[in-house]
Amino acid sequence: MRCVQMIFSPTGGTEKAARAVTKNWPEVETVDLSLPGEDYGRYEFGADDVVLIAMPSFGGLAPQVALDRLARVRGNGAKCAVAAVYGNRAYEDTLVQMADAAEKSGFQVIAAVSAVAEHSIIRQYAAGRPDTADCGQLAGFGDQILTKARAGGAKPAIPGNRPYKKAGGSGFVPKADSACTACGLCAARCPVQAIDPKDPKTADGKRCISCMRCVSLCPQGARKVNGVMLSAAALALKKACFVPKKNELFL
Ligand SMILES: Cc1cc2nc3c(=O)[nH]c(=O)nc-3n(C[C@H](O)[C@H](O)[C@H](O)COP(=O)(O)O)c2cc1C
Ligand code: SF4
Ligand code: SF4
Repeated sequence: MRCVQMIFSPTGGTEKAARAVTKNWPEVETVDLSLPGEDYGRYEFGADDVVLIAMPSFGGLAPQVALDRLARVRGNGAKCAVAAVYGNRAYEDTLVQMADAAEKSGFQVIAAVSAVAEHSIIRQYAAGRPDTADCGQLAGFGDQILTKARAGGAKPAIPGNRPYKKAGGSGFVPKADSACTACGLCAARCPVQAIDPKDPKTADGKRCISCMRCVSLCPQGARKVNGVMLSAAALALKKACFVPKKNELFL
């Protein structure tokens, strides 16, 4: 039995939650779904394997680029749990979309997890999550998933709608200010190659998925989104994001 976690995590919240879920799994291999140059067709599993697929919720949906990369993987009947990580607003259709995509790739979906992590655009929402208590709870979810993978079992009911909600861009395309040293790190790490390494101060608005990786990794703190738009979004989401939400396990 191989234990694998496949993670798309632009700013680290999804990865933290996924690593908590798989904390007690034996010898976990990690596959990073954020690499534009990777040949995901080389990842192939078997019926004895157990795989956690973790993605953030962007606008209540899974990031299309992560789903496209998952589509290249061959599950071959491997047991899988899908985990949607969200910034305390809502994950809406993310889990059903991920479960459908995993099945299309040949995985057998046996569990689903929703986990709350700091909102990667509006960082005051769910700040610091997943915290120690979250991580303990998520590890407990992971133990139950592993037990079910070993014993076998059917797909659980997973919340979400089909057809999925309509995708809409967030409109946040980060730009660098004068503190940028043109080091090129953001261009090298952008999951969709939206930043030209020769001119890293801007990003291609058509490619950018607003994932905020470039903002969070810039060593100079030079990349930012429009402050007026950010304040407006924070205000609009205040009611939906204010009360802390619970992590969930569907088994
Ligand atoms: C473009 C974008 C859209 C988002 N949409 C939602 C959302 O609809 N609901 C929500 O609760 N959080 C939303 N978030 C917050 C992320 O789901 C959350 O911060 C997640 O932990 C980010 O994962 P990461 O840290 O692995 O990048 C969004 C974040 C981004 C960047
Ligand atoms: S990581 Fe920051 S300093 Fe480096 S090129 Fe990008 S914006 Fe400029
Ligand atoms: S340019 Fe856009 S897609 Fe690329 S890292 Fe920055 S926010 Fe993410």
